[in-house]
Amino acid sequence: MSLIRSSLVLIAATGAAAFPYNVRNSTDSSLNAFIETETAIAKQGVLDNIGADGKLVQGAAAGVVVASPSKENPDYFYTWTRDAGLTLAAVIEQFNAGDTSLEPLIQSYVDSQAKLQTVDNPSGGLSDGSGLAEPKFNVDLSAFTDAWGRPQRDGPALRASALIAYGNALIKSKQESLALDNIWPLVQNDLAYVGQYWNQTTFDLWEEVQGSSFFTTAVQFKSLVEGNAFAEALGQSCDACSVAPQILCHLQDFWDGSSVVSNIPTSGRTGLDANSLIASLNTFDPAATCDDVTFQPCSSRALSNHKVFVDSFRDIYSINQGRGAGKAAAVGRYAEDSYQGGNPWYLTTLAAAELLYDALYQWDQQGTLTVDAVSLSFFTDIIGSNVTTGSFSKTSAQYTSLTSAVKTYADGFVSIVQEYTPSDGSLAEQFTRDAGEPASATLLTWSFASFLTAVSRRNGEVPASWGASKAGTLPSQCSGETVTGSYVTPTPGSW
Ligand code: NOJ
Ligand code: NOJ
Repeated sequence: MSLIRSSLVLIAATGAAAFPYNVRNSTDSSLNAFIETETAIAKQGVLDNIGADGKLVQGAAAGVVVASPSKENPDYFYTWTRDAGLTLAAVIEQFNAGDTSLEPLIQSYVDSQAKLQTVDNPSGGLSDGSGLAEPKFNVDLSAFTDAWGRPQRDGPALRASALIAYGNALIKSKQESLALDNIWPLVQNDLAYVGQYWNQTTFDLWEEVQGSSFFTTAVQFKSLVEGNAFAEALGQSCDACSVAPQILCHLQDFWDGSSVVSNIPTSGRTGLDANSLIASLNTFDPAATCDDVTFQPCSSRALSNHKVFVDSFRDIYSINQGRGAGKAAAVGRYAEDSYQGGNPWYLTTLAAAELLYDALYQWDQQGTLTVDAVSLSFFTDIIGSNVTTGSFSKTSAQYTSLTSAVKTYADGFVSIVQEYTPSDGSLAEQFTRDAGEPASATLLTWSFASFLTAVSRRNGEVPASWGASKAGTLPSQCSGETVTGSYVTPTPGSW
């Protein structure tokens, strides 16, 4: 089913070094110590779950990111395109930050995806692109053929973004031909997929509801914008990329004035969902302004949504007792969740922190912070009713007090993760709502990856700009325009 009827108007057009801020909370030595220990554990936790050498995932092919070693209740011994793409984005960041030992692993991920793109599966095949949005595969790269919520159309976009990040690193180090031969063919397929299918309904990132998903739409938009620049850098062209403004236009449909309604239709939920926070982590551009249209982390929309989203968990988990408005709280996927206990998740609680670290980075870059009618309630909660709307420059006392409150609030979410992380540092998927004990899949790869990106942002380390500031212009009318793609059979490269 189409999300947007063609020709219809659905809406009105509407790597830095040390932490640069003067708000570093160096008094919290327990948190800093936890972060240091846990960072090493999280790095290893990711590596342990990637084949062929990962010590917890015997049988996984080279470069295959297994979601978790857990084989029952739940069985996560598969590779999901989404989890893998997000995990590789974190690994590539570490590589770009200087850990060159990761390069062979990144290359084996690329090669594994070259094989995977050709595997026929229940979503389809490569000839018309449809198979690219199959959500998960067996760890030997064969198709998973049981019933599942498919297709999931965020996968190709997330994989393209991870591949582009590595491709850009190759270009930077004057290895353009490797990017062209080994990366571009895969990226081209995934971008073609996005351009052709973005206007079709999808299963959301939680694999539960079918419709339009804010996260999926956001990551699709970003992939086409950075894909276009990547194509140009390689002397190629991206036909699919021309629909990026239409995807951005559709993204505006999810905003309700104070929060993001993550799924359309809402399927009987409020729509408040970590979907929206994780989307802003992915559209984060360190060079962007606090742009509402792309839901940048420092935008008023993202901050208002953050408040309303976090508030929706304060009263439903008993571990949040005493964590009232303005205090960090444990958060899950969405309040109505009942999967595996419907508990708080590590990766969503870390997303709540990461979004605020991103925002701090952006205010620092811009040298100013603006409070407006939309973001006022976010700031009032964490500072008090004396906050007023206005623009505050970096040299002002207001700026210092606002940013230091945001930093303390952000650290609070990491402190919650600290409190409910077992002493061996393992991060499962969830922690129980009543006792804060690890629950559901153990040693979840995505939990570890989310810890690494949150901590990088806390340290002022950010990914490269993807061009958000040039891409935020909306067409005067939304349309459901798509581009039929052509798909090439990629071959694993020689490096
Ligand atoms: C429902 C869960 O909420 C979803 O996230 C999970 O992947 C599927 N069931 C399969 O277990
Ligand atoms: C369930 C989550 O809802 C989904 O997003 C994820 O891809 C799988 N588990 C695997 O981690």
